[in-house]
Amino acid sequence: MTLFNRRQKQDAQVDFQNLPRHIAIIMDGNGRWAKKRNMPRSYGHGVGAETFRTIATYCKEIGLEYLTVYAFSTENWKRSQEEVGAIMGLLKKYLLEAIGQMERDRVKMEFFGDLSALTPELQELCEQTREISKRYDGCQVNICLNYGGRDEIVRAAKAYAQDCLEGKADPNHLTEERFGGYLFSKGVPDPELIIRPSGELRLSNFLPWQSAYSEFYFTDVLWPDFDKEELHRAIAAFQHRSRRFGGV
Ligand code: FPP
Repeated sequence: MTLFNRRQKQDAQVDFQNLPRHIAIIMDGNGRWAKKRNMPRSYGHGVGAETFRTIATYCKEIGLEYLTVYAFSTENWKRSQEEVGAIMGLLKKYLLEAIGQMERDRVKMEFFGDLSALTPELQELCEQTREISKRYDGCQVNICLNYGGRDEIVRAAKAYAQDCLEGKADPNHLTEERFGGYLFSKGVPDPELIIRPSGELRLSNFLPWQSAYSEFYFTDVLWPDFDKEELHRAIAAFQHRSRRFGGV
């Protein structure tokens, strides 16, 4: 290990009084993590789901207001039936457990994406989770399911155009804020920090509208190995950035 690596691996100093309000994560690297261990990709997703649970619980503990994760994209349907089935099975398991524990955990859950493509059973579970969540006002976890950022913008544009046709909206009065009200993320502040593990340096259609001023943190760590220390490094890196929003 080089001196640089050793220094990098030290636990980072986080100012917990000054956390971002909203962190978004692309949970990437499950397949490669499994392959390294000669295991099927679905095994990697299973461990990735556990990592999600640990990180979501920790985010709530430290007082984060919003956590958004990319669980399944509009493009992920191209994967084998077996892999898609495994991810959907993990989501079902997670939602069933979450519903059972919501009273205790008091985590609010929301879903971004076109849920109509999911099985009726999964849709029902998402709906139930949403309904129960209305009782809570703590940390909100948004799970992106069958989500694509461009798809989200096109849907919003269609809904807005429809409101214009029906006389409910006037294009002369359209603002970024009003348009944001047509997105899946309506009412949720933009993520200040977006984390992508697994060494990939791209956004992959994740929150393109909402990430206009986000800070990015990339790490080679694969999602199943992502832990609290890595989250600390990401937050500490964010806290050292100078955010000017186009000003000086
Ligand atoms: C990306 O890694 C990961 C996915 C497409 C699925 C993520 C799903 C989970 C973590 C499990 C279910 C989620 C919840 C919220 C319970 P990849 O498969 O693209 O990995 P690779 O790039 O190494 O192939």
